Amino acid sequence: MAKFPCHAGTPLLSGFRKTPMAKRPEFIFVTCQVGAEIILKSEIARNWPDWRFSFSRPGFVTFKLPTEHRLVGDFDLRSTFAQAYGFSLGRAAGGSMESRAAEVWEISGTRPIRAVHVWQRDLFGAENERHEPQISPKAAEAAEAILAVCPERLRAAIPENGGVHAARGDFVLNCVLVEADEWWIGYHRAKSVCSRVAGGLLPTAPATPPVSWAWYKIEEALAWSGLPVPPGARFADLGCAPGGTSQALLQRGHSVLGIDPAEVSPAVLEHPNFRHVRQRTPQVRRREFRKIRWLTADMNVAPQYTLEAVESIVMHPEVRIRGMLLTLKLLERKLAERIPDYMRQVRQWGFNHVWTRQLGHHGQEFCLAALKKPFKR
Ligand SMILES: C[S@@+](CC[C@H](N)C(=O)[O-])C[C@H]1O[C@@H](n2cnc3c(N)ncnc32)[C@H](O)[C@@H]1O
Repeated sequence: MAKFPCHAGTPLLSGFRKTPMAKRPEFIFVTCQVGAEIILKSEIARNWPDWRFSFSRPGFVTFKLPTEHRLVGDFDLRSTFAQAYGFSLGRAAGGSMESRAAEVWEISGTRPIRAVHVWQRDLFGAENERHEPQISPKAAEAAEAILAVCPERLRAAIPENGGVHAARGDFVLNCVLVEADEWWIGYHRAKSVCSRVAGGLLPTAPATPPVSWAWYKIEEALAWSGLPVPPGARFADLGCAPGGTSQALLQRGHSVLGIDPAEVSPAVLEHPNFRHVRQRTPQVRRREFRKIRWLTADMNVAPQYTLEAVESIVMHPEVRIRGMLLTLKLLERKLAERIPDYMRQVRQWGFNHVWTRQLGHHGQEFCLAALKKPFKR
């Protein structure tokens, strides 16, 4: 891992302290899942060839920007694997929580902060049972310490909870706990749904334990994508067993046609708005999809297989699918390089809005959201 002491250490920091608003930000930080750093780096190299890889830790990567960049606080990183990102200002590494909290405000200078997002970099890969895509107790404690010493001039502007859910346009101070005693400070301007919550960690809280982990994935996917699904919509769920995705959709009042050769949990199977077709997707008669408008897929197969199965449904003349949330499995990491091709393929089917993200609850996979949206005149 390359280290640039001028970014990671004190000299640059003191430069910022003397002239906090004079300099254009020189670095970007990005948080991602542990294990996704290499894919993230090649994605950035493809989209932003002038950026130079700098300091990194598992789940936390920084890049040096070209001197004359024109990026603004709410720029779009165009990344599938970034969970959160912003301009990096330096680090607070004082010996006590109180001294680090005071440094955070010093480093932020005179910026017009309206919200404070504090989170910890991922410590465990998604396959580890200790992986928890939520604000950790350590981050909550740090947030409290930072807010306790908030400068007088900002007190009225920052809500008591730090603006955990920032409003669109808010100037957000970022503090990432890279180590327990090494906090990296940055900022961004809130715009997308994920940029409005700390670390892009969209909260999902089931009322009762769900049938499977897929419940969290679809809840997060619906929140992130903002698909305009009307009440009582008709979904087909490809690869529905044991049933977490269907369960979440049923709880939201939708009806679900579940397709999977495997067994579905009785909790889902017995729901009056659920029907199970116990077949593989390609075997299902196309007329089953005539009334379906929304599609979810989460089959443990290669992305190309999922895409071919979906294509044969959405391109059928009698089928009119409006939007989809497809979980595509990165059975090998190098498949990530094909994401632009997958997006292009889905656009060719007539979905004019296509976007992707590796969600906090994902394993080695990502979500592709697609929508046919009438163009406004
Ligand atoms: C990760 S699990 C899906 C979890 C599920 N979405 C849930 O909500 O609990 C993958 C599922 O894909 C199903 N599957 C694999 N190939 C399939 C195919 N060709 N058609 C339908 N289902 C398939 C498997 O049987 C398995 O149940």
